[in-house]
Amino acid sequence: MQAAEFKRRRRQLMGMMGAGSIAILPTGSEAVRNRDVHFPFRPDSDFYYLTGFAEPEAVLVLIPGRRQGEYILFCREKDPTKEVWDGYRAGMEGAVADFGADDAFPITDLDDILPGLMEERERVFFAMGSDPAFDKRVSDWVGQVRSRARAGVHGPIEFLALDHYLHDMRLYKSRGEIAAMRRAARISAQAHTELMMRCEPGMHEYQLASLFSHHCQMKGAGQLAYPSIVGGGNNGCVLHYVENSAPLEDGDLVLIDAGCERECFASDITRTFPVNGRFSKAQRALYDLVLQAQLAAIDKVRPGNHWNDPHEAAVRALTKGLLKLGLLRGTLSKALKEKSYTRFYMHRTGHWLGMDVHDVGDYKIDGHWRVLEPGMVLTVEPGLYIPRGSKGVAKKWQGIGIRIEDDVLVTRDAPDVLSRDAPKSPEAIEALMAR
Ligand code: GLY
Ligand code: MN
Ligand code: MN
Repeated sequence: MQAAEFKRRRRQLMGMMGAGSIAILPTGSEAVRNRDVHFPFRPDSDFYYLTGFAEPEAVLVLIPGRRQGEYILFCREKDPTKEVWDGYRAGMEGAVADFGADDAFPITDLDDILPGLMEERERVFFAMGSDPAFDKRVSDWVGQVRSRARAGVHGPIEFLALDHYLHDMRLYKSRGEIAAMRRAARISAQAHTELMMRCEPGMHEYQLASLFSHHCQMKGAGQLAYPSIVGGGNNGCVLHYVENSAPLEDGDLVLIDAGCERECFASDITRTFPVNGRFSKAQRALYDLVLQAQLAAIDKVRPGNHWNDPHEAAVRALTKGLLKLGLLRGTLSKALKEKSYTRFYMHRTGHWLGMDVHDVGDYKIDGHWRVLEPGMVLTVEPGLYIPRGSKGVAKKWQGIGIRIEDDVLVTRDAPDVLSRDAPKSPEAIEALMAR
């Protein structure tokens, strides 16, 4: 991502904040895995969106209109000894030279400097409630400013939810952001394709998960957007299955929900295919149904439609098909009204996608589903899940879990499927696996 992109975002946010305001935004912290071992660090999405700064222990402060500098970064100081052990730190010099900050201070000086920056600022933009310890610090700083009232110092009088403003910005993807999402989706789609070619009975779920990570990492996508789900047979019916420990059986399907990140932008793709390369008749009937529902839902991803249109299209197609296959009984209108499909399809058809896999942005505005606009990206991911032991369901349908998930950009015209490189028609999958 170009430096200009981060600058544009800060400008846009500061424009919304207006003069007389200050925004305070910390990044995430390193999480302990065990004793002195940490999980790989991933910056907070909001913080990274505005800075491009990927180190832990940093706080961004934006003060629109401040003459001595509007963009201030608090970060770790350079430390030659620590850098020998743990790697490069930008330090204050780097924060200014490489990350475009107008000014930078050591993170250890935050409590001393912040109250002064708040003076004469009427409005504080801050995401209260995300980190109780940081909430407390902000309220301490405000208290310090207020205690100087008799010296004629004015403190803030209004607190605003920074995330509300920022998350609306993040919902609309720029050209550069779409390019990053397309790169992530392309790498993940290639990885899914590779898994189809490499899969065979007797392999284990973790081997496919490992091949997926390997492919993404070889393409330079260092982190996955979420832990991969690889569920063979009945495990495909567990929505967030992450054990990935079972052998893949001849005659079963395998459901793989996996996606990598590029420049902190996520992809989120699910493909389901036969372990041995050929769908059985029952598997094919259910797969065709999910695919038909997914295509109907994708076709609703158009500007002017509302957020729930794709879901309604998917539900309608699935319910119709389930009635036809005898998995549901009664009339279409009654089944839709009673939501009897939820026995086999219990989740929604998608979510916003961006820097977070379940991305930010409101789904409703003033109680009404949001209208889709160009630049928004969402997933479309209907499924059917019929676990073993389902009462009153013919044996041939049991142990089948299917989901098909793509990442779709709303454009002025037709929906743009960013993840289109991963095959999903049964014919294409069987042809690929036969090679
Ligand atoms: N991978 C999580 C989801 O599809 O929402
Ligand atoms: Mn997914
Ligand atoms: Mn998803």
